[in-house]
Amino acid sequence: MNLTKEKIVELLSLEDFSPIYELADKVRKETVGEVVHIRGIIEFSNYCRRSCTYCGLNCNNTLVERYRMTPDEIIHLAREAGLAGYKTIVLQSGEDPFFTASMLGSIIEEIKKEDLSVTISCGEFSFDELSYLRVKGADRYLLKHETGNANLYSKLHPCGTLEERVNCLKNIKKLGFETGSGFMIGLPGQTLEIIAEDLLLLKEIGCDMAGIGPFIAHPETPLAGQPSGSTEMTKRAVALARILMPEANLPVTTSLGVLSQEERNHAFLCGANVIMKKVTPDQYKKLYEIYPSNFNITNIKEDRKNLEKLMIELGRIPL
Ligand code: 5AD
Repeated sequence: MNLTKEKIVELLSLEDFSPIYELADKVRKETVGEVVHIRGIIEFSNYCRRSCTYCGLNCNNTLVERYRMTPDEIIHLAREAGLAGYKTIVLQSGEDPFFTASMLGSIIEEIKKEDLSVTISCGEFSFDELSYLRVKGADRYLLKHETGNANLYSKLHPCGTLEERVNCLKNIKKLGFETGSGFMIGLPGQTLEIIAEDLLLLKEIGCDMAGIGPFIAHPETPLAGQPSGSTEMTKRAVALARILMPEANLPVTTSLGVLSQEERNHAFLCGANVIMKKVTPDQYKKLYEIYPSNFNITNIKEDRKNLEKLMIELGRIPL
């Protein structure tokens, strides 16, 4: 369905949003059905050359202990996740120049031997580098645009422009990746108009996936002390994303779950159909602190089983 920016702002401002949630849930049922995709995410490096002001991994945060997993560790972990039932592995890191496209390509090639889908989420690469990752077998690429307002983008990202980010997303799309973007709710300076721009940008890029999550301030960033994004507004944006892009894969984000498990579960009734679970080993997981959170100890098999059980309790079919 097409919606104008004005209409989106009007809908986001509704006092009672429940009819829109119901519509989003109906659209979700008719398009992507009852299946919930459970993806296993490996956070393999927390080194980052960027200085994004909202992110705990930004290069100016000298308090975070940096780590890199070895290619062997990553490949073994992906295999283990596959044995636990995961069909997709998401490889995520900061923008770490150590992991060149060539290195990532070799890792992807090994993981693809396990008959797993591979999503890459490692920041911006050139067209040629992306093309190489695609040739090596990467199926999907996640690169959130974070905010679709050029002014706000430049305030939050001392290095990089919205134009560069959108160009990279367009290259990703052109190369035939399943293309994922997304943005945060509650960034300081964000308005309802900007959220509407965010949603329309997802559609303009032709996103196949979109992750929309609440901002959570990290104490070691310039945005320390700012209030968290609204969980209600996050669900509203997810619902409108479902209505605008009926066939898209829409994850409930980890950050929504950090603020409220109940709200995270409710997001599945607002259009969402994907969830990601960290399979990152504990010693690294605690260092991959984009925003503050208390994560449980990783047990790949048990975690997967528990999540499958929860999805069944929510009336859905885990995959
Ligand atoms: N709060 C919530 N989400 C964040 N991200 C980065 N920093 C924060 C934060 N402080 C999200 C971004 C990024 C993803 C990996 O995590 O959207 O793309």
